[in-house]
Amino acid sequence: MSVSVSDVKILVIDDDESSRVALTLLLRSASYTVTSAATGTEALDFISREQFQIIVTDLFLPDSNGLDILQRVRKVSSTIEVIVVTGHASAQTAVRAMKEGAFDYITKPIDFDELMIVVLKALEKQKLLSENLYLRQQLQGRFEFNNIIGTSPAMKQVFEKMSRIVKTDSTVLITGESGTGKELVARALHFNGNRKERPFIAVNCGAIPEALLESELFGHVRGAFTGAFKDKPGKFEAAHHGTIFLDEIGTMPLLLQSKLLRVLQEQTVERVGSNKPVKLDVRVLSASNSDLAAMVKRDLFREDLYYRLNVIPLHLPALRERPQDIMPMILHFLEKQCRLMGRSLMTISKDALEMLEQYAWPGNVRELENMTERLTALTESDTIRAVDLPTEMSRQSGVAGDFSGTVTSKGVDMLALVAGLERTLITQALEISGGTRASAARLLNINRTTLVEKMKRLDL
Ligand SMILES: Nc1ncnc2c1ncn2[C@@H]1O[C@H](COP(=O)(O)OP(=O)(O)OP(=O)(O)O)[C@@H](O)[C@H]1O
Ligand SMILES: [Mg+2]
Repeated sequence: MSVSVSDVKILVIDDDESSRVALTLLLRSASYTVTSAATGTEALDFISREQFQIIVTDLFLPDSNGLDILQRVRKVSSTIEVIVVTGHASAQTAVRAMKEGAFDYITKPIDFDELMIVVLKALEKQKLLSENLYLRQQLQGRFEFNNIIGTSPAMKQVFEKMSRIVKTDSTVLITGESGTGKELVARALHFNGNRKERPFIAVNCGAIPEALLESELFGHVRGAFTGAFKDKPGKFEAAHHGTIFLDEIGTMPLLLQSKLLRVLQEQTVERVGSNKPVKLDVRVLSASNSDLAAMVKRDLFREDLYYRLNVIPLHLPALRERPQDIMPMILHFLEKQCRLMGRSLMTISKDALEMLEQYAWPGNVRELENMTERLTALTESDTIRAVDLPTEMSRQSGVAGDFSGTVTSKGVDMLALVAGLERTLITQALEISGGTRASAARLLNINRTTLVEKMKRLDL
């Protein structure tokens, strides 16, 4: 991992022209790539567009100051190092800058050697940090397929199955609710397998209009249909010697299902409008969040294709079925998000964690990841407490007993659930309004007569 000096980008911020030019020239003479800005606004504009390793900023700027810049930089990156330049008089501010995370400060008039040493030290620190990160990822990769987190028995089974099939070319059907990690697993199978140097082509069958899907998958020849101006290979040909990932396979129209079946059986494709078969070597992974076996029974999915795709079934359990994974996942996402946002590492309190372990997670890991991202951005303190969590996650608002927010195959009693919710809301509104029905009705945005009727029906 050797980086040449000219790859190091430094931003110099100083409103005083002569010292800005001097600094820029000094750093350029040491072969760094230097950009300079005269105001805070200009600097922030550069920072949002380019990746700098180091910022050298004057403390006093016409439109802001070095501390503001420091705070803004911390928001976008935890790896940029900021070196603050101060006059003699502002030693106190310099100390504050250090507290807020500046790498170091130097005083005017600037001593060239001193500046060079500070810059070198900052670069060394960055190198160490990125090496640490690299090593940690390597270690994780060996045992957990890169970034797939999970220590629950259910996920251990998934990992075990993955490690048995990862070095094979077998066809795998990955199933699981939305957000359980199907695409993540498909990528891990490819990028840890024999074909990792070859293409991984993902096709979301549900996102492509029906009329285009066939040519998208199998390609077409010029003139095959209106708008086919030239020959175009499809995704299957693009995946030659690699892997194709057919996502949301359950949405594929029946007619196309038969064409796909033929391609899989014969290991050849014919572009739309051509009858010249092209020989293929492609590993097929597919994924579905709908129950394909049930679709087969209802004649919505071809049975023969189902068996072709489902040579090795790999099911990813819903997050609520593996609450043991919630803590390691939160820690993983917090670390990732804090690093991205440049804030110090956050933790989570015991009761907040318990609450999250009891929540039903209808959006599974994707929902957990998004929630962590929001919490990292919105929580000021370094510890996430129960009160910081969105209300739908606190159990008090989880009305109507055991309802998890999703309809499962066991079914739900909708009317009883709705009645339970109405009862809870009306009771609360009456409590707040001290028993006055008119104002309780106003709180609930319904007519007083509707309220009275409902109260009668609910026996309140
Ligand atoms: N075990 C896990 N460890 C870490 N991150 C995970 C895990 N499972 C899922 N994720 C993350 O959750 C998000 C959703 O995962 P992914 O897109 O693979 O789900 P999916 O099952 O394909 O969902 P959908 O059916 O909605 O397409 C991604 O950002 C993914 O990286
Ligand atoms: Mg997906």
